[in-house]
Amino acid sequence: MTADIMKVLILLCALVAQIYGQAHHLKFHQSPEEGHSCIILENEFLPRYRGFETEDENEFKFSSKAAMKTPTDTMIELRSDAKIIEVFAKTEKSAQAFLTSMCKSQEKVLPFSQSTSTSTQDVVINADPEIRKIIDGGDQANRIDVVFMGDGYNASQRDQFFEDMERLTTEMFNGETFRSYLPVFNIWAIYVESVDTGIGYDGPKDTPFRLYREAGQLRGIFPGNSAFARQVCALTGASGCDYPSIIGNDDFYGGLGGEFVISTKSARTGTVVLRHEMGHNFVDVGEEYDNGQVYSGVNAARTVASLGWTSWLTNEAKREERAMFRLLQYPWADLSEGSQSFTFLSDGSYSRWYLLVSVSAAGEPDSLEFVLDDEVLPWTSTGFDDREFYSWSGDEGFSAGSHRFSVRSKTNSTHPEIPRMICSVNLHEFGDESQFSMDNNVVSAYPTWDIWRLKSFRPTNAGCLMRNMTHARFCPVCQEGMWSQFLERVDLIDNVEVSNTTSPDGTREVKVNTLKLGQFREPGNEVPGETLDIKWILNNAEQEELRDQLIINAQPGNWVCEVHFNTTEVRSDPRNLLTSSQNFVVPPV
Ligand SMILES: *[C@@H]1O[C@H](CO)[C@@H](O)[C@H](O)[C@H]1NC(C)=O
Ligand SMILES: *[C@@H]1O[C@H](CO)[C@@H](O)[C@H](O)[C@H]1NC(C)=O
Ligand SMILES: *[C@@H]1O[C@H](CO)[C@@H](O)[C@H](O)[C@H]1NC(C)=O
Ligand SMILES: *[C@@H]1O[C@H](CO)[C@@H](O)[C@H](O)[C@H]1NC(C)=O
Ligand SMILES: *[C@@H]1O[C@H](CO)[C@@H](O)[C@H](O)[C@H]1NC(C)=O
Ligand SMILES: [Zn+2]
Repeated sequence: MTADIMKVLILLCALVAQIYGQAHHLKFHQSPEEGHSCIILENEFLPRYRGFETEDENEFKFSSKAAMKTPTDTMIELRSDAKIIEVFAKTEKSAQAFLTSMCKSQEKVLPFSQSTSTSTQDVVINADPEIRKIIDGGDQANRIDVVFMGDGYNASQRDQFFEDMERLTTEMFNGETFRSYLPVFNIWAIYVESVDTGIGYDGPKDTPFRLYREAGQLRGIFPGNSAFARQVCALTGASGCDYPSIIGNDDFYGGLGGEFVISTKSARTGTVVLRHEMGHNFVDVGEEYDNGQVYSGVNAARTVASLGWTSWLTNEAKREERAMFRLLQYPWADLSEGSQSFTFLSDGSYSRWYLLVSVSAAGEPDSLEFVLDDEVLPWTSTGFDDREFYSWSGDEGFSAGSHRFSVRSKTNSTHPEIPRMICSVNLHEFGDESQFSMDNNVVSAYPTWDIWRLKSFRPTNAGCLMRNMTHARFCPVCQEGMWSQFLERVDLIDNVEVSNTTSPDGTREVKVNTLKLGQFREPGNEVPGETLDIKWILNNAEQEELRDQLIINAQPGNWVCEVHFNTTEVRSDPRNLLTSSQNFVVPPV
């Protein structure tokens, strides 16, 4: 054999070996304010990680994200510089070296105990936390684990807490939003008894995680005791706390993204915040709404020429949908201090407009008045004091020149603790239907403007909850990205079990355990047009009569079990993440 052929062979072997890489996974919280001290949140070995892209033994992937992220569509300036840093490295040595280089000091999450829980902050924990698994998808080493912890549920509200968590889970995971991903998850609920009921409206109350709002605004909700939340979440065991979430016993909008996804039990908006912030975690994307700061990931493109979602385009010819923003304001202004008005210019060249506002504490009929260019806009309150969205549209563009939109409150706030506020005002103009497809199912290049008014592109008009807060679905591009991100970590095959005993005919029983996708989904979780295809390959030849069997009687030889996930939600799979295989040997008799 020549040296060249040898090289090619070695490379081929390396490629095959790399399909599944071993990875050392580290996740830690780093506080630049506190001399780069770090808290290690996760330190685990992943035997079948698939996120690596090269054959370099020193490869490591890392991501650094804000530990506290401005919650959905609220435009808060957060003061913390703390980061959540995640590393996937091929060797433990390089993972540890990276950690040492990033952290001046390191500490672990202390195990939960009654005494540690009282030492960090002045919180008295009255009872042992109660842990329930709401959705049991399988082995937590091969699943994504979401942990809901309740704050502000007192001793008589334990049952209510579990009912609320069941409802949120049903809405999100059995409802539209994450329905197709349900088999990838474990969902946990942990009850910790609270002295006070509810969350603080201006600084924390006596609750375990000390959640609080600022000045009663339906906006950010901050955790006052993150250290304790980490200890409680760790009660789920190794690899059981991938995405901690704290749910306030409160009926109104608000939350936070980042290390902890924070939301409330609000029947109207609890899941609105949750699904959006979890979306940021489950698929590594920035925003699709205007006026944000981060536009990155599979759903964002700098130019029409560089769209990453060509396989999803409704029309083959790429085009920029013709639209322009007129108002992108987040005043969060208390209307008891006076009316608010906004002026904008139009160039008179568009054919349609859409105005979207959100207000709080305006559940009373006829309590607000909205005026656009001297014309009072028709408005009917939803009857709720929560942060509510209202919209108007027109099928004529604005004339060239200056225009004015204003809002005033006719009565006082209907809620003693929540100011009546105009939270957000978004106004856009569009070309006619031949220039701008309004239909939310159309995938094209829709312009988005960031906080500095720099333009990027998103896949749909308002067909993604990363833009449209009241929408329950992600766009197909985000959905596809989510599958990729999950399947880097979660293997379609849990394991292959080969029986220890040989049957009289010389075969052994072999069973493959898979994610419950396709025809194996649980009743009520069916997704039409989806299959999980199973092939059994003996000494390089597929045994076609065994196709799609979970249990086979295998003759002696070298076997491969190959599982392919056939779903309409993925169109592009360059890293072959939809196929997983495991080798096994059936010894001769
Ligand atoms: C819990 O809060 C509710 C509502 O505020 C109250 O009616 C109930 O008495 C409280 N239970 C305890 C044990 O404090
Ligand atoms: C609103 O409340 C203030 C004081 O709480 C009161 O003086 C005022 O008359 C009220 N306004 C209306 C329109 O009810
Ligand atoms: C946002 O989603 C909601 C719910 O699906 C829908 O009714 C609304 O029309 C969408 N917004 C736009 C601008 O299409
Ligand atoms: C088969 O043998 C393995 C290793 O000796 C053992 O761990 C496993 O429990 C056995 N399985 C059965 C079904 O007996
Ligand atoms: C996936 O399913 C579709 C329709 O059910 C079928 O036409 C297609 O051949 C399948 N693809 C693979 C790779 O099995
Ligand atoms: Zn999207």
